Amino acid sequence: MTGLRACVIGHPIAHSRSPLIHKYWLAVHRIEADYTRVDVPPEEIESFLQHFPRGPYVGASVTVPHKEVAFRMAVEVDPVARALGAVNTLWHKDGRLCGASTDVHGFIANLNRSQPGWENGVKTAIVVGAGGAARAVVYGLIERKVTNIVIVNRTLARAKTLAEHFGGKPVAASFKSLPIHMREADLVVNATSLGMNGQAPLDIDLAPLRKTAIVYDIVYAPLETELLKAAKARGNPVVDGLGMLLHQAAPAFERWFGVRPEVTPELRALVASDLAREAKK
Ligand code: ATR
Repeated sequence: MTGLRACVIGHPIAHSRSPLIHKYWLAVHRIEADYTRVDVPPEEIESFLQHFPRGPYVGASVTVPHKEVAFRMAVEVDPVARALGAVNTLWHKDGRLCGASTDVHGFIANLNRSQPGWENGVKTAIVVGAGGAARAVVYGLIERKVTNIVIVNRTLARAKTLAEHFGGKPVAASFKSLPIHMREADLVVNATSLGMNGQAPLDIDLAPLRKTAIVYDIVYAPLETELLKAAKARGNPVVDGLGMLLHQAAPAFERWFGVRPEVTPELRALVASDLAREAKK
């Protein structure tokens, strides 16, 4: 396979680790192709996607803030993308734009890998956040038959909307009621952008949480957020967000290049060292 090109589109895009990941797999599988970052400002995204099926790329990863517009413009989408109203992977077929969402797969595969058998112990989960990332997390937990899901968000109305999106099965709650829900939780997920480099930490009190409850942060820059540090210090099992980033990329790579790549410890170490380099800057 030669001369193929894929890319990641977003705005801003300079910090995307997707090229590092996909180039690693291209080298492992000896595929002569390129993968680049393309900064597409919001005013250019529609035109970019319109031309995509006739452009130079076999496919694209889609990141903030373009996942929803990519969903709207894709002619064919997979069932997960339809359920989320968002697309993070694009390709084209017979001149038509096609899209999928692999974020749910990334979220669940990372949990499976880090905490095998987690489903047996998780009856109640707290999801903090109500944006696009939280939507993927809630979808994944419902699919994996987690019985009680509590969505906690600063803006309660958004948590309610998200709960209703999933037929009212999850419950919406405010931060004020968090200590009560914490007592019952077997899994706590940070699906907000809090804790990310340059942002305030997610400041929640873990004291009421059982020591066996899993604490999962989808933030991966920094790799160890204040939330994970606090959870680890009191002995809770923790899951960081890097695995989700790596696992969501694998089905996209397969879609474009025809080979399902492995999320190896070597790949994880490669991206982790890149994140550590940035943290030192
Ligand atoms: P994404 O699609 O990446 O999830 P988003 O839709 O902007 O991004 O959602 C960001 C999430 O982080 C939201 O749940 C947001 O809470 P609000 O719905 O109340 O805005 C949450 N968030 C961001 N900054 C926050 C802050 N300073 N305090 C509390 N929550 C915050």
